[in-house]
Amino acid sequence: MKNIVLKSLLRIGKLIAFVLGNYLIILKKYCNWQKRAKNIFLKNYPLMLPVLEALDFFYLSMSPYDISIANREEKGWQDKKELTYGETFLLSIPKIFQNIEITEKDVFYELGSGSGYLSFFVNQYYPAKKVIGIDIIGDFIKICNIVIKNLKLNNIYFYEDNYLDKNIDDGTIFYITATCYASEEMALLEKKLNSLPAGIKVIMISRPLNSPDFILTKYKFLEFSWNFDSVFFYKKI
Ligand SMILES: C[S@@+](CC[C@H](N)C(=O)[O-])C[C@H]1O[C@@H](n2cnc3c(N)ncnc32)[C@H](O)[C@@H]1O
Repeated sequence: MKNIVLKSLLRIGKLIAFVLGNYLIILKKYCNWQKRAKNIFLKNYPLMLPVLEALDFFYLSMSPYDISIANREEKGWQDKKELTYGETFLLSIPKIFQNIEITEKDVFYELGSGSGYLSFFVNQYYPAKKVIGIDIIGDFIKICNIVIKNLKLNNIYFYEDNYLDKNIDDGTIFYITATCYASEEMALLEKKLNSLPAGIKVIMISRPLNSPDFILTKYKFLEFSWNFDSVFFYKKI
């Protein structure tokens, strides 16, 4: 029953996303939405200014999208759809984290951290003991680590790895954008999450978890670089 409700919710969400998304693409072109969004974000979250300036410096000549494509071509990973790049929209990041409590006992993992904006935000605005970003694209990790060093940031770490192979057992909160995952990768991811202890929290973007060990605590529908999409908040029982 819960699954049927979830699937119907997803279908309705995707339909709304398609219609809304198309309107937004046209609208954004006319009102320079990305720049406006960034200004609004920085007005509300000024601690992010040095981080965004540093990241912008690195992504001036090559965008994160171009870097992801170049790295994948270099490694012969052109067919790996699960590595498709996209970003959580800047203004959606605080909206997501308003729905979850993060304390000094928490270890936050962003599995597939891309350009790193989201992990830097959690590090700057929440007291998490550790914030860890993992991505398989080496250049993202190099850039994030230079930013950490230059800005002398603490309690934040980025690692180049396949997170499915990495030990993440100390994590208490996980953020995962599994948008382009096929059923095989979803199965591997669920297996990994199932092995973690009860009490952990997982924020899944686009794709729900099927395991009965995870209870859905909240659902949001927010903007991402590719369109509006589902945000599922889970707790492991
Ligand atoms: C859609 S992007 C999301 C980036 C960022 N989390 C955000 O929300 O803005 C997904 C990222 O996950 C990475 N990724 C996908 N599968 C991975 C894996 N198994 N191990 C490490 N990184 C992975 C991709 O390289 C990509 O940078």
